[in-house]
Amino acid sequence: MAIISSKKQPQDPNGQPKKQSQESVKASVDEELLQPEAAIDEQGKQEESIRPQRFADYIGQKDLKDVLDIAIKAAKSRGEVLDHLLLYGPPGLGKTTMAMILASEMGVNYKITSAPALERPRDIVGLLVNLKPGDILFVDEIHRLSRMTEEILYPAMEDYRLDITIGKGSSARIRSLPLAKFTLVGATTRVGALTSPLRDRFGLVQKLRFYEVDELSKIVLRTAQLLQTPITEDGATEIARRSRGTPRIANRLLKRVRDYAEVKTSGEINESVAAEALQLFQVDPCGLDWTDRKMLSVIIEQFNGGPVGLETIAAATGEDTQTIEEVYEPYLMQIGYLSRTPRGRTATTAAYKHLGFKPPNEQLSLL
Ligand code: ADE
Repeated sequence: MAIISSKKQPQDPNGQPKKQSQESVKASVDEELLQPEAAIDEQGKQEESIRPQRFADYIGQKDLKDVLDIAIKAAKSRGEVLDHLLLYGPPGLGKTTMAMILASEMGVNYKITSAPALERPRDIVGLLVNLKPGDILFVDEIHRLSRMTEEILYPAMEDYRLDITIGKGSSARIRSLPLAKFTLVGATTRVGALTSPLRDRFGLVQKLRFYEVDELSKIVLRTAQLLQTPITEDGATEIARRSRGTPRIANRLLKRVRDYAEVKTSGEINESVAAEALQLFQVDPCGLDWTDRKMLSVIIEQFNGGPVGLETIAAATGEDTQTIEEVYEPYLMQIGYLSRTPRGRTATTAAYKHLGFKPPNEQLSLL
């Protein structure tokens, strides 16, 4: 199966894409509250109903929005398709949402797939030949494309051409078919893992960064309104502070805090209700979970603050090295608790203080 999701833009009578409905959506049960990857149920209707549909509704990522706004206006005024775009950054920051908004702003259709769904060359061929002029093809986890699929994409991206090999051995011939002019939006958490021929074929390469607390707070307020959940600004800020700079986590925590508020209190989320609920769910005031704390405490207690190799940290926490590198470390580095050196990972003074240990410089001054 190659297509995960696709959408033709619903149009209003003026031919503009329609706005989303504000209907209430039911909560779901998540076990991995702080995992930025989308849970299965979040890929369904609930997630769609709270997903911003236009740039005007999308909070944060100002620099990226500015760049894309110019690219969209320029492409539209020239009557051209948008350049191929590579979005990279940690999971949960809105790469898929951004691709959907691009389609909406350009007034074109999109198809969403992911590299693991494009196992066989015919999967990508099937998608490419069905694209209409201007369509956006979104490929998630694009660093995981097979070599053959990647090679089919090169002429497709560069010249909107599909080269198919017919026959085998010495009688093999290449036939070229024209494709509709389309835009490929690739998304990855590991931009360094892309081959350079693929990376070089993107006209725009843009990074998504972690969100500030005030941006996440606005996102929580917006989602609460869509979910018809009463919340104070302080309540939203408390959830935002514990969301690891990640909207997907903020929205997930909001739903859990909403459950708590409905069962234990009058139903309104304020600062103390949010703090109590999140303490119950073991999300600490900085949004760290057991694995974050374990990583830092291993470095501090067993290795005097580091440097410690990635493999050692993985063994101590029971997580694989890729999850540590792609999910845990980016946020710990962002908040200044961890640094990566050529010899390994080290815990910072701020990490010592957060976990209640005396930082090494203060220990020395006691001698
Ligand atoms: N929901 C998830 N991400 C969002 C964003 N960046 N802006 C508004 N709502 C969101």
